Amino acid sequence: MIGVFDSGLGGLTVVREIWRQLPGRGVVYLGDTARTPYGTKSRRLIQGYSLQDADFLISKGAKVIVVACNTASAQAVETLRRHVDVPVFEVVTPAVNSAAALTSGRVGVIGTRGTVRSGVYERKMKRLSPRIKVFSSACPLFVPLVEEGWIKRSETVSIAKEYLRPLRLRRIDTLILGCTHYPFLRSVIRQAVGSEIRLIDPAHDTVAELAVYLKQHPELDAVLRIKRGTSIYVSDLTEHFASLARDWLGRRLRVRSAEVG
Ligand code: DGL
Repeated sequence: MIGVFDSGLGGLTVVREIWRQLPGRGVVYLGDTARTPYGTKSRRLIQGYSLQDADFLISKGAKVIVVACNTASAQAVETLRRHVDVPVFEVVTPAVNSAAALTSGRVGVIGTRGTVRSGVYERKMKRLSPRIKVFSSACPLFVPLVEEGWIKRSETVSIAKEYLRPLRLRRIDTLILGCTHYPFLRSVIRQAVGSEIRLIDPAHDTVAELAVYLKQHPELDAVLRIKRGTSIYVSDLTEHFASLARDWLGRRLRVRSAEVG
């Protein structure tokens, strides 16, 4: 099975991409709803939680881990790779590669405070292509707005315009949606930045990278196909989370409770 974890439910955007790009593989998802958000926590805590999340998925049969959470991808992946013995994929590098291939030189990144504070997008871009300039901005209200379902409200458009104005002033031509939840705000973000700026969804690029890896490792791919279907776990099961998960996935999947940590 492909194990996917996130601090909450936003990482279901990765599950949807797996269904689209890698149908027929088993998926086990963990949303750490009991300890969300990660975006405001310290690096040490994010690393500890991520290790526990990965251990849970491995105990459920995951043979590869996808860290769907940008905050955990930014701050915990090296730690995870040292501790678990299955391949670990994260969402930052594929988004940086994709932005570098598309931009004319000015990339914006939006994410949680934790992701922006880590400076990971700037560092990775500098290593890949030092001539590309990266400008980041934290948008801490976006996650609660998505979780409240305020994705088409005029208030959300106003907030998005406010958050994105500094990046527009920097004349970015490409924008990385560096947080699991932001693809749900795609049309609002599009309204706020106009039609010229390219939007990069890391979930799409991450699953594309996993697909290439599985082509190169057919023996692992065969194992992922043994148990099909998708299991969804959350560390705090409430009716709100269960119905959000069903809305976002567009399927009536059973959401189960997980003991993590
Ligand atoms: N999943 C987080 C991310 O992608 C957003 C929510 C949180 O702060 O935990 O950064």
